[in-house]
Amino acid sequence: MSPQILWIGLGNMGRGMVKNLVEKGSLDKPVLLYNRTRKRSEDLAATLAPQGKTEIVDTIEEGVKRADIIFTILSNDAAVRAVFESALAKKDVGDGLKNKLFVECSTIHPDTTEQLAQDVAAAGAQFVASPVFGAPPVADAGQLIFVPAGPKAAIERLRPYIKGVMGKAEIPFEDQPYGQALKLKLIGNTFVLNMVSVLGEGLTLAEKSGVGAAPVKQFLDGLFGGPYSAYGDRMLGGAYYKMAEPLFSADNARKDIGHAAALARAAGMELKNAAVVDEYLKVVADHAGGDRGDVAGIYGAVRKNAGLKYENDA
Ligand SMILES: NC(=O)c1ccc[n+]([C@@H]2O[C@H](COP(=O)([O-])OP(=O)(O)OC[C@H]3O[C@@H](n4cnc5c(N)ncnc54)[C@H](OP(=O)(O)O)[C@@H]3O)[C@@H](O)[C@H]2O)c1
Repeated sequence: MSPQILWIGLGNMGRGMVKNLVEKGSLDKPVLLYNRTRKRSEDLAATLAPQGKTEIVDTIEEGVKRADIIFTILSNDAAVRAVFESALAKKDVGDGLKNKLFVECSTIHPDTTEQLAQDVAAAGAQFVASPVFGAPPVADAGQLIFVPAGPKAAIERLRPYIKGVMGKAEIPFEDQPYGQALKLKLIGNTFVLNMVSVLGEGLTLAEKSGVGAAPVKQFLDGLFGGPYSAYGDRMLGGAYYKMAEPLFSADNARKDIGHAAALARAAGMELKNAAVVDEYLKVVADHAGGDRGDVAGIYGAVRKNAGLKYENDA
């Protein structure tokens, strides 16, 4: 018999992850869905095939009571804290939370994760911190890289849902502090956000200096490919201002770069690039809205600073 799974958080990432869990997770019961905005649960349940593989719950408490494994992937530290407050509220009723496993996939500060892990352990349940690498299309394709940290036995309960289901690989921190996974995630995101910032500057310089964006894109595709090409397309094709919903919101990116900068300060060093990225993201947030602007909008921010229009009219 497969465990009962509850999924909390159906944003850009959660939706793709649930799709793969439902389709490839070998589950013999519906995945319970909870999202703060119920409509997102309804829309997802309606699109998932085969039908009846999900069931919407109205409260976190109800879902947690019925679940063996609870996944969370939410915007930021405050959202995660609020959800866990509700999830742990009934810890003293009946068997409480004994033997339940919480798998927290959001990108949050390592200290927040460590505190959550303590609260979960105090409630008698297990905890795995497992942030993920990969953009929403990667989540849709079931190709995420999971970074699970926590007791090996707890990570083993998560493993059946990683490779071949929601992910393609893992970078495990077995029997190591939970915060390690979040530190790696934040460091990883500095690579992504610095890359986006460098791309925005390079493509704008190409236009301003008269060489044009097309040869620079050819260079990027030829030498780097991967995320350089994907973000280059998102910029030059105009998706950075045309997309209905951001793939990686400016607010979430500012949270990540802020946590990375704090991590560096606590470790006795400074991330100078973090300030540059945050400055660009602030322009994106002012222009498009923090929850609506996409990180690729950094290209628009650089363009604006350079005296061009934010939109490239692609
Ligand atoms: N997008 C990426 O490229 C990417 C990649 C890897 C990891 N991540 C990380 O994964 C997490 C989710 O990212 P995302 O892009 O899916 O974010 P998103 O689209 O903004 O979705 C955020 C989710 O959090 C929920 N939420 C926000 N505040 C809440 C609160 N106070 N109480 C309850 N629920 C709340 C939202 O519910 P509503 O629907 O009600 O708003 C939604 O389900 C973030 O930590 C992000 O940093 C993102």
